[in-house]
This record gives sequence, structure tokens and C-alpha cells, in this order.
Amino acid sequence: MPAGPLHFITFEGGEGAGKSTQIRLLADTLLAAGHAVEVTREPGGTEGAEQIRKLLVEGGAGRWQAETEALLHFAARAEHLARIIRPALAAGKWVLCDRFADSTLAYQGYGQGLDLDWLWALRRHIVGATEPGLTVVMDLAVEKGLARAETQQRYERMGIDFHRRLGDGFRQLAAADPERCRIVDAARERAVIAADIVGLIHQRFGISL
Ligand code: TMP
Repeated sequence: MPAGPLHFITFEGGEGAGKSTQIRLLADTLLAAGHAVEVTREPGGTEGAEQIRKLLVEGGAGRWQAETEALLHFAARAEHLARIIRPALAAGKWVLCDRFADSTLAYQGYGQGLDLDWLWALRRHIVGATEPGLTVVMDLAVEKGLARAETQQRYERMGIDFHRRLGDGFRQLAAADPERCRIVDAARERAVIAADIVGLIHQRFGISL
């Protein structure tokens, strides 16, 4: 594996911020430059973790205790790390992941009010040294994002205050780790955002795309 930050890029943000579009564009750019790429998502990415995803995104808002919910996200993540993310990195691929552990801090911590120290302890235990080399936080006004969201599943139905809290959470997480996390204004044209992200990759990894 290369020295320096892992070639593991996570995309974070509230609902409807355009993460999947930017992941597709970046994957195409990396592939065109001759890099091997693994595109994946959380919760999910493996058969077992996709089953856990269904438990989390379907059903009523009050389906789970918040602690249960956080543990389910970390259970899915442990599978995903062991079976997809770490092997792909070891094989020299760039891993682009739609959401990762910052989503648990933002949604279950800032949004659902779980203890942030407990969530960080779980994160250290499950993620260990496989922290992303770069986290792109796509920032968009909550009302715009919810209006743009493609699905209306469990989290989208949790209310505007919940979504405001987690949006603030992402901004605080990014401010606390400016080396790894970069906030991108997601209200702009998709090509402009994509160019920004290519610039961030140049800054962080020293490669030109
Ligand atoms: P998606 O809509 O981006 O595919 O993600 C599924 C939902 O899961 C999304 O509403 C955010 C939520 N989520 C959490 O609450 N905690 C987590 O740790 C992750 C990865 C996602």
C-alpha cells in the first residue's frame, strides 16, 4: 500500500447533496487516468451489509433504539471493511465510498443525540487504521437537499430539525479534522463541483487527473 493518506475517499453530507453523481464522475476520471477503482456505499457494500441496510432504511422512524441503530451501522461497516474496503486498498485500488463513519457521528450522534465519545470509541475499534485519506463533505441547505432526495425512506422522514442537527454535525466534524475533511459547496453546477474535487485530490495525494 502507498505511504501517506490511504487512497480511500469518502463522500458525506445530508440527503440529496449529489454524492452519488460526484462519485460516478470521479470514478470515471480516475479510470480514464489508468487507476483501478472500487465504488461502494454504506450502509451496504456486501451481501450481509446490504441486508443490514434494509433494516435501517426501511420502516418507521421509531423502529430502533438509537443505540441499536448505531451498532447496526457499525456491524455493516465491519463486514464492509473486512470484505471490500481493506482488500481493495491492498490490491492497489482507489476506494470511493458513498458515506462512512462520519455519517454515524452526524446522524446517530448529532442527529439522534447519542454520546459522541461512545461513537468515537466504536469508530476507533471498528475502523482502526482504515480511516479515509480524504473525506468530501457535500454541503447543501437542508430544505434543498430534502427536496432533491431520490428516496423517501426512513431517515428522510425524520424531520427537518433532525436534518439541521446532522448538517451542523458534518460541519463540526469537518472543522475538527481539516487535513482529512474538505467541505464542498454542493449548490453549484455538477461540473464545477467535480473540478473542485479533482483539485482536492491533487492537494491531498499529489496526483494530477
Ligand atoms: P443514502 O441515502 O445516502 O444511501 O444512505 C442511507 C441512509 O442511512 C441515509 O439516510 C443516512 C443513513 N446513515 C446513518 O444514519 N448512519 C450511517 O452511519 C450511515 C452510513 C448512513
